[in-house]
Amino acid sequence: MTLGPVDQKKKNAADHAVSLITNGMKVGLGTGSTAKFAVEALGRRIKAEGLKVKGVPTSEATRKLALEQGVPLLSFEEADRLDLCIDGADEADAGLNLTKGGGGALLREKVVAFVSERFYCVVDDAKLVDKLHAFPLPLEVVPFAEKVVARELVRLGGQPMLRTRDGAPYLTDNGLWILDCRFPPIDDPPMLARALSSIPGIAEHGLFCGLTHALVVGTDQGVKVIER
Ligand code: A5P
Repeated sequence: MTLGPVDQKKKNAADHAVSLITNGMKVGLGTGSTAKFAVEALGRRIKAEGLKVKGVPTSEATRKLALEQGVPLLSFEEADRLDLCIDGADEADAGLNLTKGGGGALLREKVVAFVSERFYCVVDDAKLVDKLHAFPLPLEVVPFAEKVVARELVRLGGQPMLRTRDGAPYLTDNGLWILDCRFPPIDDPPMLARALSSIPGIAEHGLFCGLTHALVVGTDQGVKVIER
């Protein structure tokens, strides 16, 4: 099947990151369309080379995909330390700060990235921005606190919107809700991340600061790797 240009860039980035996996690694498996290419590439390497790895999925969707692709899995409880995590992002800035959570899996994605020795974020070049802001920032919230969290986000200059599906609040794999919050261009992502972390009722937010070791960017010319 021929891929469109954007999907081809996502696949190039994912294939490159997966080429760095070696025998015996425990690997965090991200969520989303770019991470899907990575899980498929890993499945191909396992079949072709007999590569011995264990994966830890960041969502139920990725768990299902990994099993279909023949990737052996560990439950998160069995893997408190991972060698490598490969996951996508919705936006990335030059400081390797990320917006994540478009696919609703940001909480598990952040935990898995946090326990990984190296986190390689795989994106196509359209996701590289000067300042994070065009993609509304997803926040996973406890339903009980949604109104309080929304009010505090407005105080911080945001415009939150409850994510819905079929007319009801979108439910994450953790049984929580998502607020997608527009902010003006984010000058200081770590400072906003700290402010968000101080609001009770936010289980996790989709700003990933200081977690990415390398951005693997798919471009028309091939793959560009931006290391921290
Ligand atoms: C999933 O919750 C997200 O964090 C994804 O990593 C992000 O939405 C990127 O997805 P795509 O690779 O589909 O753009």
